[in-house]
Amino acid sequence: MLRLVSTLAGFAGFLLMTSLASSSVAVSEDVQAVYQQRCGACHEGSAKELALGTLVVHQGAIITRKRKLELRAFLNQHGRSRPDEIDQLYTLLQNHLAEGGPPAR
Ligand code: HEC
Repeated sequence: MLRLVSTLAGFAGFLLMTSLASSSVAVSEDVQAVYQQRCGACHEGSAKELALGTLVVHQGAIITRKRKLELRAFLNQHGRSRPDEIDQLYTLLQNHLAEGGPPAR
């Protein structure tokens, strides 16, 4: 009996993990598509290259390197994205900045 319970618990955990894993992949594929659609026409390379090349963190805020604008304010006037797309792109670029390191290709 004990063995059955632990097998079931293990199976439930497995189901939970696979559903979490597949949902996070779906989200990141969406946001990559948004990036390609809204930014990729003008910006060559990956979102990570853009993040590491053009953004800096200053006093906890993400600022564009050249214009020194806060990223969200900048995206409100650059790239013609909807507010929900801006939220996703902000998170994507923030994550890439936090990862740091050489740009992924
Ligand atoms: C119509 C073409 C075009 C589109 C679409 C576009 N950009 Fe740009 N982007 C530019 C140009 C041109 C520059 C300016 C290069 C410069 O002067 O530094 C720029 C600059 C930037 C900078 C640096 C700004 C600074 O002050 O340093 C960032 C960050 C940026 N773009 C992000 C994005 C993101 C994210 C998207 C998608 C939401 C996007 N861009 C869409 C053309 C575009």
